[in-house]
Amino acid sequence: MFTDFRSITDSLPCGLVITDKHLNIQYVNSFAREKIFALRVADNPGNMRDHLFYTTDMRVFDMDDCMRSMVEQKKRNFHKTLITRRGETERLVYFSVKGFSKMNQDFYLFNITDISDEMDCITHSPGTFGKGEYLLRRKIIGHDTRIEEIYRMISLAADADVNVLIQGESGTGKELVADAIHELSDRKNNPFVKVNCAALSETLLESELFGHVKGSFTGAYKDKTGKFEQANGGTIFLDEIGEISQSIQVKLLRVLQDKTIEKVGDNKSVKVDMRIVAATNKDLRELIRKNIFREDLFYRLNVFNIVMPPLRERHLDIPMLIEFFLEKFNRSTSKNIKGVSRDAMKTLMEYPWPGNIRELQNAVEHAFVLVRGNLIEVEDLPEEIRNGMFAGSLKDVDNQQNNDLSATVYYAEIFRKNKSGRLKINKEQLKGVLEMNDWNQSKTADYLGISRVALWKKMKKLGL
Ligand SMILES: Nc1ncnc2c1ncn2[C@@H]1O[C@H](COP(=O)(O)OP(=O)(O)OP(=O)(O)O)[C@@H](O)[C@H]1O
Ligand SMILES: [Mg+2]
Repeated sequence: MFTDFRSITDSLPCGLVITDKHLNIQYVNSFAREKIFALRVADNPGNMRDHLFYTTDMRVFDMDDCMRSMVEQKKRNFHKTLITRRGETERLVYFSVKGFSKMNQDFYLFNITDISDEMDCITHSPGTFGKGEYLLRRKIIGHDTRIEEIYRMISLAADADVNVLIQGESGTGKELVADAIHELSDRKNNPFVKVNCAALSETLLESELFGHVKGSFTGAYKDKTGKFEQANGGTIFLDEIGEISQSIQVKLLRVLQDKTIEKVGDNKSVKVDMRIVAATNKDLRELIRKNIFREDLFYRLNVFNIVMPPLRERHLDIPMLIEFFLEKFNRSTSKNIKGVSRDAMKTLMEYPWPGNIRELQNAVEHAFVLVRGNLIEVEDLPEEIRNGMFAGSLKDVDNQQNNDLSATVYYAEIFRKNKSGRLKINKEQLKGVLEMNDWNQSKTADYLGISRVALWKKMKKLGL
């Protein structure tokens, strides 16, 4: 149906794709086919969703939302997104889409511009994220695949200089991620300005963000530079974005669209250049449905979307996080706490952590105050954690590993996964892993990913 204009579209230096209303590709010009999707001649181009999406479980952006805003509501805003190229390289593209009908059928016409070279952000092969990997791993602890994915997203976002929306429950590390995005970006030598949108009244927040001129409202005794201006050239972190009022939402939209601001009480526009990283623990889609949050603002903020997993969904990261916090508090308190008893570890592993990593950090800090020996015991933990107000929360893990050794098993899991590095294990832990493997040394060595000789040396050194 669409082949009659092929010779024209094939000569275009941008991608043109026509899909049916279910996004099945009906037509693709040669630029899109070869340069963007990297399809071979015989390949079926498939569905648009497979291309303009990450195919991992970490969603970058939601195709259906995008279609709704662009086609059904006749908005023609551009979206920047990433395109997956057969899992080897990724390209950053701008695209727009328009709906049209032909012979009583509905179609979408996509216009795709590849801006990867301009943005210098082509990344090669999953798993290599170049610069900053070291920094990320030191700062954001975890080895769950979802955290690995977060590292990757941070690197991509840092390079792409797009607006980022970070979602996740309280205490999951949203601010840490915002920080890392700025640190890894080309804006790192310019300011990183944080604003907690929930902490101020509407009037104060407006003047905080935009600044004001003397006398513009009661209490405005002198001119004030707003955070947007302070962030010029750098990054502004708008925390708790779900809390801003409708009127500030409108003003923010204008900043996003025009990259200009007006001080309160002033009608002069000032150009600003900054990247916006916003965070929220609210479900913005729900707020949109309730007409509390503007949909158009959401799309502008949500160019790149990072979702932080709650701690209870990555339980196996707990020992590693504890280790990290032990080191941190040992340094700051000059104590020398060696670790966590097996029972305490089991308790910590089974708690569902509604306050996520912040709560875990607080628990370890609490224990540092109470601990008597050099091992944190159950009784050193905060009461709500000790009391197991959470029973049954760890069902899936417990079903898998239905025995009393769970803490040891988790430990072992950690060591096994960390086998690429040097094995750091103490006597108690090694004993646990040996027990788990019925004291079979080759099985244990296999499990830990070390040689039998190395295991034997380790056992001897630890007096086992
Ligand atoms: N993966 C992690 N590794 C090490 N520390 C972490 C990690 N995630 C969070 N933290 C620490 O936990 C605390 C809470 O993190 P952060 O403030 O980034 O969370 P948040 O998602 O912004 O929470 P809130 O929504 O309550 O503001 C901080 O002290 C942070 O350093
Ligand atoms: Mg925060």
